[in-house]
Amino acid sequence: MTADPSPADLLAEGELTVRGRIREASNAALFCTVAHDGREVSCVYKPVAGERPLWDFPDGTLAQREVAAYEVSEATGWGLVPPTVLRDGPYGEGMVQLWIDVTPEAELLALVDAEEPEPGWKAIAFAEVGDGKTALLVHADDERLRRLAVLDAVINNADRKGGHLLPDAEGRLYGIDHGVTFNADNKLRTLLWGWAGEPLTGEAVEVLGSMREALKEGGALAVRLSALITAAEVDATRARVGALLASGKHPEPSGEWPAIPWPPV
Ligand SMILES: Nc1ncnc2c1ncn2[C@@H]1O[C@H](COP(=O)(O)OP(=O)(O)O)[C@@H](O)[C@H]1O
Ligand SMILES: [Mg+2]
Repeated sequence: MTADPSPADLLAEGELTVRGRIREASNAALFCTVAHDGREVSCVYKPVAGERPLWDFPDGTLAQREVAAYEVSEATGWGLVPPTVLRDGPYGEGMVQLWIDVTPEAELLALVDAEEPEPGWKAIAFAEVGDGKTALLVHADDERLRRLAVLDAVINNADRKGGHLLPDAEGRLYGIDHGVTFNADNKLRTLLWGWAGEPLTGEAVEVLGSMREALKEGGALAVRLSALITAAEVDATRARVGALLASGKHPEPSGEWPAIPWPPV
């Protein structure tokens, strides 16, 4: 390792110490530190042994899917997923991801009593709020969310919730919890439907264009993903990128209603 390792190298090679358990996690998730050469960072460690089996994700591990999501994020150059590696730990192999110190910022999601979103907001769907009433669920018209929406379309994210969006002190916004991604069938379930059917931004088209190259047989991203997800899932990823470029638009819900995670936070 070099004198000044990247966060990913530090995560992969540092000494991993478990500091505590994260209670609200649905699979075993441990709060840890990794240390090497006097440097220490906090991280989350999700051992494969703590994964609950999911009938619709029978192949490989959720940890591998989390790393695959990081690889795609890196290929975008947008840095949307915190550095994430596969490695051994006290409870066996698992994923280790850099801990993001959340710095609360203005809300990105809201329920409003209106038919149309205010300027600066995008409509997700109408939601039942009890007593036969509905309210409009909206998210911020935020460039960082728009990039995440593109990432989610590529990785086929089946669970993009509000609680999986972590803002940091530098004004960056990270997406986490990518265990249920890359299914070969369309499973996009997200809150970020605000741009559905709208043209992709120029930067998104550019990023997807270089991703298409990197996903060609033998391309850098194809090789990385092939070590993490099935060949059919790599093919499906390639097809999703191709379809996004062919339509030039953000994907639209496949049913009459947008598929949104519930609860949305
Ligand atoms: N990289 C991270 N940085 C900061 N907090 C995290 C990170 N990963 C997970 N968390 C926290 O731990 C909780 C559980 O993690 P999550 O990835 O949602 O696990 P699960 O797969 O069990 O749902 C998250 O809701 C979040 O509060
Ligand atoms: Mg979660």
